[in-house]
Amino acid sequence: MTNESKIIGIGKCIPSKVVTNNDLAKLINTSDEWIKQRSGIEERHWVSNNESGSDLALIAANEAILNAKIDKNQIDMIIFATISPDHYFPGNACFLQAKLGISGCPALDVRQQCTGFIYALSLADLYIKQGIYKNILLVGAEVQSKGLDKSDKGRDVTVLFGDGAAALVLTRNECRDPKVDSLIFSTHLHADGAFAKELWVSGLGMGNGDALVTRAEVDEGIHFPRMNGKVVFTHAVRRMCEVLNEALTHNKIAITDVDFFLFHQANLRINEKVAELLGIPAHKVFNTIQKYGNTTAATIPIGMYDAIKEGKLRPGMLVASAAFGSGFTWASALFRY
Ligand SMILES: CC(C)(COP(=O)(O)OP(=O)(O)OC[C@H]1O[C@@H](n2cnc3c(N)ncnc32)[C@H](O)[C@@H]1OP(=O)(O)O)[C@@H](O)C(=O)NCCC(=O)NCCS
Repeated sequence: MTNESKIIGIGKCIPSKVVTNNDLAKLINTSDEWIKQRSGIEERHWVSNNESGSDLALIAANEAILNAKIDKNQIDMIIFATISPDHYFPGNACFLQAKLGISGCPALDVRQQCTGFIYALSLADLYIKQGIYKNILLVGAEVQSKGLDKSDKGRDVTVLFGDGAAALVLTRNECRDPKVDSLIFSTHLHADGAFAKELWVSGLGMGNGDALVTRAEVDEGIHFPRMNGKVVFTHAVRRMCEVLNEALTHNKIAITDVDFFLFHQANLRINEKVAELLGIPAHKVFNTIQKYGNTTAATIPIGMYDAIKEGKLRPGMLVASAAFGSGFTWASALFRY
């Protein structure tokens, strides 16, 4: 019998405002056809002015805690994956902790972009397996809409992203039989900073000039994300295949033994290409990008939530997850739900 981590609760919060591709075409020079054809996205959700990432996270976290049937005071740690925090500092985990009305437990932000959720999951899993914490609240939440360049200059990035949040509660579980019991088998994390500038925000930091940001820089739009889409696309396909294979090899599992694939949602074509290259049948890959766009650190837990609600992800299923994002970073996780 070993100590393992197990998912016991899940919650989600998607802002109510739907922004269709046609809505975007009223703001910038784009079209429903271009967006759908290149990315698979049909619509995304954007917050209203007074909503923040920690607000979305609070709703998702409350649902996850209720679903886990624990008291919020039993949470031993909060890990919050986001690249769109409410404030420059402190991190969103602290704001969420205060909104939940709990105090004392550690509250940590993970800033690993689209790979953030799997990086955060790996930390939660290690803290639990080491016997340091029992119940960990793990959140992926983003408000991308407020940080996008809604001029034609930013159209390649702006059409891809959306807002949303989801939360998990993980707990320590005595695993008797890994063939049946829920557990996280392993996580595999990578990065290559040589590609940091292929998808990044060049300004709004201490790395440039003599101020966080100047008026001239804001006019230039250096606080908006910029991307070399083709480079990101190619690397995403290659790295997601590699890191999925790494998880399978590490656990001595054949790809055909995996019941369900939860990939990061950056572009439907990326996920279709990964599935094609690895010989994964389409019905095993769960995509939500059509409805939500890319919600960065929130895509994987949002997908998990929807798949459970739709009855597609069921207890006992073997799940492989993979993500790729800015950094470049990439990661995978293999778990039994
Ligand atoms: C962004 C992406 C959809 C663009 O698709 P693409 O096939 O590479 O398209 P290109 O960049 O070659 O652009 C083709 C044309 O469309 C134009 N275009 C860019 N964005 C557009 C938009 N929103 N609407 C209409 N046209 C657009 C370009 O300006 C270009 O025009 P040009 O040929 O006159 O120069 C694609 O590269 C992609 O998905 N990359 C990965 C992105 C990603 O995963 N990011 C997140 C990582 S976690």
